[in-house]
Amino acid sequence: MQKVGLVGWRGMVGSVLMQRMQEEKDFDLIEPVFFTTSQKGLPAPRVLDGKGAGKDCGVLEDAFDIDALKAQDVIITCQGGDYTKAVYPKLREAGWNGYWIDAASSLRMADDAIIVLDPVNLNVIKDGIANGVKTYVGGNCTVSLLLLALGGLFEKGLVEWVAPMTYQAASGAGAQNMRELISQMGAVHANVQDKLADPASAILDIDRQVADFIRSDDMPTAQFGAPLAGSLIPYIDSQLESGQSREEWKAQVEANKIMGRSDDQIPVDGICVRVGAMRCHSQAITMKLKQDLPVSEIEAILAAHNDWVKVIPNEREASMQELTPAKVTGTLSIPVGRIRKLTMGPEYISAFTVGDQLLWGAAEPLRRMLRILLG
Ligand code: HSE
Repeated sequence: MQKVGLVGWRGMVGSVLMQRMQEEKDFDLIEPVFFTTSQKGLPAPRVLDGKGAGKDCGVLEDAFDIDALKAQDVIITCQGGDYTKAVYPKLREAGWNGYWIDAASSLRMADDAIIVLDPVNLNVIKDGIANGVKTYVGGNCTVSLLLLALGGLFEKGLVEWVAPMTYQAASGAGAQNMRELISQMGAVHANVQDKLADPASAILDIDRQVADFIRSDDMPTAQFGAPLAGSLIPYIDSQLESGQSREEWKAQVEANKIMGRSDDQIPVDGICVRVGAMRCHSQAITMKLKQDLPVSEIEAILAAHNDWVKVIPNEREASMQELTPAKVTGTLSIPVGRIRKLTMGPEYISAFTVGDQLLWGAAEPLRRMLRILLG
């Protein structure tokens, strides 16, 4: 059995990864070794395997111990970019030639790394394995979710360009941000609770009080740096010279790298916005196709691409029930709907898609990459 080192398995993405690996009985196929940055020597977690008994995984190893890491055939890390930057180069310099599977973005655009999203780029991954590529990195969440939704159109070479305007959940910013979003919601409600309970109170008074509170120092904003509940934040990640945010820049470079067409890029660009959803990113898409195709054909192409994408008819009730973070959260489903021709012309198409940022957006492509390696 292959020795698989797990690093950062206790954090938010790592916990989702662990859960999925247990659900899919991945631990039956590997010899897991759990690493820690602070608790070396303590018992490792017992993981559920196919026998349902819980597999004894020994004790925790030091995540900075290069010799302990070198003993692994595969390492999967959700520990974050700082850890990758600190450990990965040392491990390679020490001659380790194992497979490194990483959730962090630091190595994504490296020439010798492949971004993994196998329902979209299994061919790229398989070529990489055949050619000795040893570093496999999960993509940016919005990019992965976009490609799973629109994979059929990309695969058939039908897309001239795409403008995804995102509605990104708090989870993308981290666990503390999810907590802060809920705290903000609660604080806003608590501030007007009395007036809200009084049917005779005037809505504009409530509104003014809410606005004053949201803008006040009493609104908890330590994580986001701005109110999110009752508002939104139209900027994600750092500022670049191009005028794009770093999150926006990733869309085109990563999408094209995933598809193995970095030398012949399809333009993918839009504005990324943080909204008050918990863990599902949504995207409103405008795209130009290379052909004037009937909507029914576009829907059929999208639906046929992978097992998780689900075309939602462009109807009010279906969209309200099926095409929302509330519906999708905690699932691997990738609904795509609101598909119609825009008035700009017959090749201009709209779509709206939703996906769980922690599952397909982060953990799932990593465990599937491990499965591909295990054969
Ligand atoms: N950068 C993303 C976000 C999450 O902030 O929502 C990670 O891909």
